[in-house]
Amino acid sequence: MRMRRKNNLEERLALCKNSLLYIEGEEFYHKDVKDRFNILNLEEVFKNPNPIWLEIGCGKGQFALQTAKLNPNINVIAVEKISNVILSACERAEIEKPLNCKFLNCSAENLGYYLKNGSVERIFLNFSCPYPKHTYRNRRLTYHRFLSIYKALLAKDGEIHLKTDNAGFFEFSIESLSENGFKIKNVSLDLHNSDFKGNIETEYERLFSSQGKPIYRLEAYLT
Ligand SMILES: C[S@@+](CC[C@H](N)C(=O)[O-])C[C@H]1O[C@@H](n2cnc3c(N)ncnc32)[C@H](O)[C@@H]1O
Repeated sequence: MRMRRKNNLEERLALCKNSLLYIEGEEFYHKDVKDRFNILNLEEVFKNPNPIWLEIGCGKGQFALQTAKLNPNINVIAVEKISNVILSACERAEIEKPLNCKFLNCSAENLGYYLKNGSVERIFLNFSCPYPKHTYRNRRLTYHRFLSIYKALLAKDGEIHLKTDNAGFFEFSIESLSENGFKIKNVSLDLHNSDFKGNIETEYERLFSSQGKPIYRLEAYLT
């Protein structure tokens, strides 16, 4: 189901000056590749050199904001491609004013234009759209073209933490991660009934677990 476009979307996004680092508009795709680069100086943005954690497909931002609150020595960047959706996250951040959480309105495929290689300690993929149709598998955030981008962004010893309710997407992700040089650890097939401590729930996680669905989780790393 499509979400209704929010009133005054552009004007409201423009007001989110403190929390929203960049809006990737249509014009991005009309630029020459060399002109697309806009590498962010994150030490300047956060005013410290703390480690960066990146959430990709953050939706309304609950996980990112809570993760930042519980980890004041980490800087969190949350990415969402749909402006209509990220607006809720940014408007909340403008009220809560976290020092260590910022938002990027762009597509995951373009992250290499904004973030320095080797600059990210951890990537979170929470309830990524599973795109069950085989013909759309290249849109899954664990398809090999995305994994190459994550490999470039991750620091040495960096990790990907993934959660989903979708068994097909989980299976696909394990296969794709393994085929692309990642090792997998700390797998859970029912996170909420496991001894995992410190889980931070996302909006979709709350919905799916209230429907009785098990939550799958894994961590992936490069050797
Ligand atoms: C199912 S929602 C999950 C939202 C949130 N992570 C949660 O767990 O509540 C997936 C989100 O990922 C975003 N998304 C999908 N593909 C993306 C991409 N290529 N780049 C950035 N965001 C993407 C969608 O717009 C959507 O808001």
